[in-house]
Amino acid sequence: MPSILAVSGSPSSTSRTASAADHALTLLRAQGHTASHLAVRDLPSDDLLSGFRDTPALWSATDAVAQADGIVIATPVYKASYTGLLKAFLDLLPENALAGKVVLPLVTGGTIGHLLTIDYALRPVLTALGADHVVQGRFLLDSDIIRGEGGRTRLTPEADRRLSDSVAAFTAALDRRTATATAAAPVLKLVTAGAPTSASAATAATAVAASASVAAAASAAASASASASTRFSAPVSTPTPATAGAAR
Ligand SMILES: Cc1cc2nc3c(=O)[nH]c(=O)nc-3n(C[C@H](O)[C@H](O)[C@H](O)COP(=O)(O)O)c2cc1C
Repeated sequence: MPSILAVSGSPSSTSRTASAADHALTLLRAQGHTASHLAVRDLPSDDLLSGFRDTPALWSATDAVAQADGIVIATPVYKASYTGLLKAFLDLLPENALAGKVVLPLVTGGTIGHLLTIDYALRPVLTALGADHVVQGRFLLDSDIIRGEGGRTRLTPEADRRLSDSVAAFTAALDRRTATATAAAPVLKLVTAGAPTSASAATAATAVAASASVAAAASAAASASASASTRFSAPVSTPTPATAGAAR
């Protein structure tokens, strides 16, 4: 079962965004996923501001990202973009830190006018970090997240339904990725075991992939053989239509 990490980037100690991320994690745990939450505000600010990655807190945070199959990136809109706190953390991640992972952007804001923050601000950064499968993001308004007694929060029924839809799309994408990786594994074994010429490896890989009906595996295997690399290169997924329906 794929493991999930939520990374939330609000500096607020009573963050609505972190609550929404927790809600998504609760839904994911109910499906049997291992799911944890990294609130960037809990990391030492000196580490974040110094740009020096070589600290225990950042090793641990970076490792949590590396280990996760799926990442929920949660941020409030601040000044029409994601927060500087989130960016400080993302800047410290290694190159291609999100490669091979499925990513769900989750954004909260005070006004629907900044819905496009998901696709015009956040998505390019995720892509720059190597994420090749960013599912359609979810935008929630402040008014969707209701704070009750003792600081507890809950979503309105409508927001709950929309977030559940996003989580369902996210897990479906994770399942597809897992199935593709599993189907591609024997192909890669075949290619890397004999270290044949790239032409014969590509031919063999194509034959196996065709029998498994996994065309994507063939292209991954062919590129793996061409570079004589044993590293799995996950197939690039078709990006989802960006904004339509993300808000409501
Ligand atoms: C410094 C700051 C800037 C903000 N800028 C915007 C903005 O540009 N657009 C918007 O829709 N909401 C904006 N908001 C509202 C927050 O996005 C919104 O209240 C969000 O739910 C806060 O999430 P949090 O509780 O996790 O911090 C801003 C809030 C703050 C504190």
